[in-house]
Amino acid sequence: MTAGDSGLHVEPVPRLVGHLAVPGDKSISHRAVLIGAICDGETRISGFGRSADTEATIAAVRALGVEVYEHGEETLRVFGKGMTGLSSPGRAIDCANAGTLVRLISGMLAGQAGETFELTGDASLSRRPMERVAEPLRRMGARIETTEGHLPLRIEGRGLNGIDYVLPVASAQVKSAILLAGLYADGSTTVVEPAPTRDHTERLLQAAGASVTVHPTSATVRPPARLSLGEVEVPGDFSSAAPFVVAATLVPGSELHIHGVNLNARRTGLLVILERMGASVNVYNRRPIGGEPGGDLEVHSAPLVGTTVGAKEVPLAIDELPLFALAAACARGQSVLRGAEELRAKETDRIEATVDALRAMGVRARGTDDGLVVTGVPTRIRGGRISSRGDHRLAMLGAVAGLASRDGVRIDDADAVGVSFPGFFEMLDQLRRTSAVVEDDRR
Ligand code: S3P
Repeated sequence: MTAGDSGLHVEPVPRLVGHLAVPGDKSISHRAVLIGAICDGETRISGFGRSADTEATIAAVRALGVEVYEHGEETLRVFGKGMTGLSSPGRAIDCANAGTLVRLISGMLAGQAGETFELTGDASLSRRPMERVAEPLRRMGARIETTEGHLPLRIEGRGLNGIDYVLPVASAQVKSAILLAGLYADGSTTVVEPAPTRDHTERLLQAAGASVTVHPTSATVRPPARLSLGEVEVPGDFSSAAPFVVAATLVPGSELHIHGVNLNARRTGLLVILERMGASVNVYNRRPIGGEPGGDLEVHSAPLVGTTVGAKEVPLAIDELPLFALAAACARGQSVLRGAEELRAKETDRIEATVDALRAMGVRARGTDDGLVVTGVPTRIRGGRISSRGDHRLAMLGAVAGLASRDGVRIDDADAVGVSFPGFFEMLDQLRRTSAVVEDDRR
């Protein structure tokens, strides 16, 4: 890999062989800090997934008066202020690029009676829709104003009332905001989802002692007297394992083990899709990790065939859909993604950005209103030059494509990986080195 003003060049690799462990789950890391902030007493978080996004969450709770001690990279101690102890910093809270932070914290702040808060973010976050959170919170009695549907958000905390809310879009962030506001409501709050989405908020609230009843497509929370989390162990992030899973699938002769990964079925839709396409991914050492189903993955390269992914599968693989499109590019036949218009509301318009990136690397792909169509060829893709557009998932897509390409891929703005996985390229380099050693040994 070579970096410079002209982008980062990811060279093709003959095979990927080795063992690795990815950093802690970003979704759970955000939630552990946020919920820890409204617990009574200390929450000790191990395996914390450090990234620009989760750093923004630490800074946000500190601004609200919560003490957070950092012990090395991965251990945090959060000294909660109790459910209603967050105080306004008297200035805007910067949520940077973090959609999970801004949506979830809105629910908590709506219930901090007598305090007023302002939330801002970077240019990408400021383009993303915020009424989807503000509207249900207002129904709960919250005082919350968006700026024409976007950031800055202004929230006046007060007592709330419980609601039954049917989510118009399948979004774990919106569901979580409502459930967190439900902690402050008079009576119970129920959220019904069009399709199951990640349930980490429900699990952590239960672990903190709240009464949360969960059904396949709904969750109900009742206001607790207090919350207490104690210890939280964060499992490895499946979304950070996914680029390596796809790379090892696509690069012939690969055998890769990824240890200690969160395998919550509401996160691992990509595995189901890849297996349907013919991928060889074996899960072993299944074990609970920090209240989530976890395990180790063994991936062997395999030839793939095209498939169709529909609306029900979308939330289970939402952040991995660009990688699905790349896998589809190397599969035999056509692949179709439908019901994925939510991708347009991510850090970038990920339908447009993925299609543009694939085309720039010689792949036949086109966008549709709610997804994309890829015509795959079961061989190495050509390679080329792409821009991450500041989107971490796009930068990782480019890196995986580079490994599995003929000519390599040059990525502009590759540093965007720092939003979720700052050590991504170092881990890739390390893997390239260990794979080369195995190669030599085989000769
Ligand atoms: C997340 C939920 C998803 C996902 C995001 C993280 C979360 O967003 O895309 O990266 O931690 O709850 P939506 O809930 O908006 O789909």
